[in-house]
Amino acid sequence: MTVFPDHAAEDYDERIARLVPGYGLAIGLMAHVLAARRPRPARVLVAGCGTGAEILAGAALLADTRFTAVEPSAGMLETARRKARAEGVEGRIDFHRDMLENTPEAPHDAAMLSLVLHFLPDDGAKRDLLRAIAARLRTGGQLLLVDALAPQEDDAPLRDWLQGRGHAPAAAEAVVGRMRETWHRIPRDRLVRLLEDAGFRVTAPFFQAFDYLGLEARRT
Ligand SMILES: C[S@@+](CC[C@H](N)C(=O)[O-])C[C@H]1O[C@@H](n2cnc3c(N)ncnc32)[C@H](O)[C@@H]1O
Repeated sequence: MTVFPDHAAEDYDERIARLVPGYGLAIGLMAHVLAARRPRPARVLVAGCGTGAEILAGAALLADTRFTAVEPSAGMLETARRKARAEGVEGRIDFHRDMLENTPEAPHDAAMLSLVLHFLPDDGAKRDLLRAIAARLRTGGQLLLVDALAPQEDDAPLRDWLQGRGHAPAAAEAVVGRMRETWHRIPRDRLVRLLEDAGFRVTAPFFQAFDYLGLEARRT
């Protein structure tokens, strides 16, 4: 199940910050890497934008940039729209309630993909999503990706961090178990190969916390 149910939007922002170590930092760094690019991106695709964290972080640093927000969950997308309105940036966002693959192949200067890829099996589905992004980026366009990689041997530090963020021991154990059993996490070298197959060249990492990695890649 990769499309989030509508009700997931209700407490998503509060939940995700307690589930993903360094979530706010990863999103903030994504926006800074985006804003450091010259010339500054005129149009940015945000695939699986959820409740809009990447868009709001990017819009705050890039005053003239337009964003394409793609999200199949109505609840998540409506929350993103409401937050964008509150920040006064709704007019710079084109909202698409759809899977990325079904949206027009309009060219973008950059794309952001945060916490989506690990939900897809590595049976061609991950590569297809990366290809769908590549098809919507101009040559040289930047992809900023945040995802959870294959687990390290020892989950104890992550379990401990989760408990420090208010999860009871059994709940922290359940989170780690879910990540191990239901997510499709791959090692970093496999991710790099999939990106290359999809038409990207990996340039630099910008974030790592436990198994969560932020990478920049360019459309070749
Ligand atoms: C964990 S949320 C991440 C939201 C946001 N990017 C963040 O980092 O907080 C994953 C989102 O991807 C959406 N999604 C799943 N498959 C998608 C697809 N093929 N195209 C666009 N969005 C998709 C889900 O509905 C969900 O809202």
